[in-house]
Parts: sequence; C-alpha cells; structure tokens
Amino acid sequence: MNISWAINGTEFELQKPNMTENGLGHRVLNMDTMNPNVKRVEYAVRGPIVQRAVQIEKELKEGVEKPFTEVIKANIGDAHAMGQKPITFLRQVVALCAYPDLLEDDKFPEDAKNRARRILQACGGGSIGAYSVSPGIEIVRQDVAKYIEKRDGGIPSNSDSIYLSTGASDAIVTMLKLLTSGEGKNRTGVMISIPQYPLYSAALAELAAVQISYYLDEDKCWSLDIGELRRAVKAAREHCNPRALCIINPGNPTGQVQSRQCIEDVIRFAAEERLFLMADEVYQDNVYAEGCQFHSFKKVLFEMGPEYSSVVELASFHSTSKCFMGECGFRGGYMEVVNMDPEVKLQLTKLVSVRLCPPIPGQALLDIVVNPPQPDEPSYATFIKERTANLDILAEKAKMTEQVLNTVPGIHCNPVQGAMYTFPRLSLPEKAINAAKEKGQAPDMFYCMKLLEETGICLVPGSGFGQRDGTYHFRMTILPATEKLKVVLEKIREFHKRFTEEFS
Ligand SMILES: Cc1ncc(COP(=O)(O)O)c(C=O)c1O
Repeated sequence: MNISWAINGTEFELQKPNMTENGLGHRVLNMDTMNPNVKRVEYAVRGPIVQRAVQIEKELKEGVEKPFTEVIKANIGDAHAMGQKPITFLRQVVALCAYPDLLEDDKFPEDAKNRARRILQACGGGSIGAYSVSPGIEIVRQDVAKYIEKRDGGIPSNSDSIYLSTGASDAIVTMLKLLTSGEGKNRTGVMISIPQYPLYSAALAELAAVQISYYLDEDKCWSLDIGELRRAVKAAREHCNPRALCIINPGNPTGQVQSRQCIEDVIRFAAEERLFLMADEVYQDNVYAEGCQFHSFKKVLFEMGPEYSSVVELASFHSTSKCFMGECGFRGGYMEVVNMDPEVKLQLTKLVSVRLCPPIPGQALLDIVVNPPQPDEPSYATFIKERTANLDILAEKAKMTEQVLNTVPGIHCNPVQGAMYTFPRLSLPEKAINAAKEKGQAPDMFYCMKLLEETGICLVPGSGFGQRDGTYHFRMTILPATEKLKVVLEKIREFHKRFTEEFS
C-alpha cells in the first residue's frame, strides 16, 4: 500500500518503499518512532503549491505544452530570486573579506577596503573562514548597538545585549526555545497573530508549546486590537500559561504598519499580563504608505518611561534578508534583548554556543548594513542611490498591487503599507467551495492550485497563514519586477473572472 498524507488540504501520495530491500526492514527511525512534534510542523511558504510549481517548471523544460511559458514564483519573500540586484557596497566588502588579495585591486573603493580590513582584523586568523565567538564578532555587535541607538534617537543599546544570528529565524526559534517550559496547564503559551508568518506556528509545534492565536482586524487594515489580545489571553489561561507575545511589524503576510499608539497599547498589555515581548522587525525599512512610519518597540518602550522600560522584557529581531538589501542567502541577522534576567542571559549565551556561531559572511554583511558608507566617503552616493531605488520600486509596486487587485470584483485588497506582501480576501462561489471540499482541499488551496496550473503563477493559500473561518485569501509578494508584476496582476484578474464564472 502506498503512503498518502495531506498538507493544508492537498493530498500527496508516495509509493511505499520495499522495506526488506537492503535489509532495512526494521529501521530504528520510522514514522512511529520519530519525533511526533516534527510531524506536526507545517510550512506553507514552501509547501505543496511550491512543490507543484517546481514540477511544472521541469515539465516546461521537457517541452510539455502549457497555457504559459514560465512559472512566476510570487510565493516567497526572496528579493534576489525575483531579480533585485545586490547593493554594490555590500558585495564589495564581502568580496574583499572572502578574498583579501583583492585589497590590492584598484577597482575597489577605499571605504570598502577599510570596512573589510576592520572586519578581517576582528576575525580569528584574519579570515572569515574562522569561527567567531558565539554571540557574534564583537565589533559587529558594537556596530549593531550604534545602529540601534541612532535609529531610536539616542536610546542606549549595548553590544552585550546583541546576539548575531543565522537570519532572524534562528534567533526567533532560540527565544521560543528559552521561553518554553511546563506541563499541562502550565505549558508555555505564545501569542501569535492570525494571519501569521508560519515560522512561528512551525516552531511552536516543534517545541510543543501552545499556540495562542489572536486575530488581526482585516476591516481595519489588519490592525491589532487590544480587545482581541485580551480575549485571546483570557481564553488561553484556561489551558496553558501565556508567557510571550509575538508581533510582526511591518506585517507578514498582511503588509500593515502599526501605529505608535498601537505599539504603546501592546506594551501596556504585555506589562499587565506579564508577557515577554518578541518584536519581529525584519521589515523595518519597508514602509511605503503615506502617514505610516516604523516605530521600534524598543524606542516606544523607553519613551513610555521607567514604569515600563525597567520591567517589560523584550527581544527584537532584524535581518539582512529584507529591507533594501534582500540578502536572504547570507543568513545574517541579530536579536537585541532588553530587561532579560542576567542568569537567563547566561543560559542564552550557552544555548547559542552549542551551535558555535552564525555564518561569518552573514555577520560581515550585517556589519555593512548597520554601518553603511557615510556622506564623506567615496561610496556614499552610489549606496544611497541603490538603496533608494530598491525601496522606491517596492513602494511603487505596493501601490500598483493594491490598485489593480481592487479593480477585480470578488477580490478585496487592503493597502500594502509596508513589508513585501499582500493578503487579499477572495469571495469564492459556493460551488467552488464544495468542489474544494470534495477534493479534501481548503478552498483557497484549490483556488491557488488551479491558478498555478492555468497561469503558472505561484502564490500561497491563506489557509497556510491562518485566517478567520469562512474567509479565504492568498498571499502574494510584491517582488516580481514591475513589468512582470503587471502581467501577474493581469493574469490573476482574468483567472479570478474565469474561476468565478466556471463555479457560478
Ligand atoms: C516576519 C518574518 N520574520 C522572519 C523571517 C525570517 O527571515 P530570515 O531570512 O532573516 O531568517 C521572515 C522571512 O520571510 C519574515 O517574513
């Protein structure tokens, strides 16, 4: 008999291997003995739709006839994969660090060479091939602290509270690991938004922590309502011990930017309910909408005065993967902890030590992100030009996405205020919902699969991020190049019309 399973409502089937072949009939590690928490992990961003997209790409290469000539992947926040060019200065410094003989080459500007020399001097043996200390290279952590101080209008930051990480994901999982304890009703509960970025639900499943869902308000541009936080925490106290509250701002998948007032309210709520705050701020430069501004949780916390700033525990996260850089593959990131118990901090340092250190090229790249060229340096003008161009294009695409999608009857799209995504709501005909149910699929999975098969556009169904029952969405990145994004939006418009007619 073959093995079949379903993820997010899509069924998969694998031919069951012959267990007696090669004498492997009695594996120690099998589906019955493996970690059950791992089996519960789901990650829609790289889920079944993407697997099918990869298959279709292969079929296209093999000459299989399709109604389209390429697969456009608007499913994942990977800017470079979608054609964004690297920022010259970042790559120059990393190239110099990786191959120091280039320090003699006239093609590289002096400011890039100075940065590279400084980083190399801080590396063991003067090489980025050496391990660093586990929280990350000291001068990089000092530069991160200075960057945070400048960003937050002078509120002090100390390199001792900075932990460099393998992307933000690594630091987020590390913090969740530290926070998870207890059994039964005392098991750690962690509040996460719905819709959410599935790293959070996946990590909580793996750690067997309790997910406490709070819903963002779609009718108010995905804003966060304190009443909803109160409802969620109260209900959760019946069956677990809520210890942490995670906020993503600007938001993924919903693209909202929180107001300062909202952040203050969240901080007050965390103080009242004694919750550890985790602020995922990887999109801090990605704010596009007029009237919206990024406010870091750290800054707002300290501006609220010692009543809060001396008690509320906070970890905030940043990454080289997003913003104007989009350097996902370098796996650079950091976390800053505030008001953490000094003994727990030692445990955190011990925990990160077990995995030695984050990749050094990622640390080097992060150093340049937080310590970019200054106005009196030769690379400044080009750096600013490239940085501004990347952010301006994203802003233009954010607006275009909202405008075009809102012209489609049956699609409602909130303004893409920030980040790199839109999460529009779909009105799906009853017949389509029933057809999906017959196939054992979530209706928006059914929709996205059909969209992929008919147009080659790869999106992620809303069900992979969580949504209110009876509502349907997809997540789409705004990352395809402008001309390609226009095609994507046009194809979605045509597809939605066809789909609605077919199932009406
Ligand atoms: C909200 C959010 N947090 C964290 C991450 C992980 O980023 P990194 O590449 O730094 O691990 C992502 C990636 O898309 C994200 O959207």
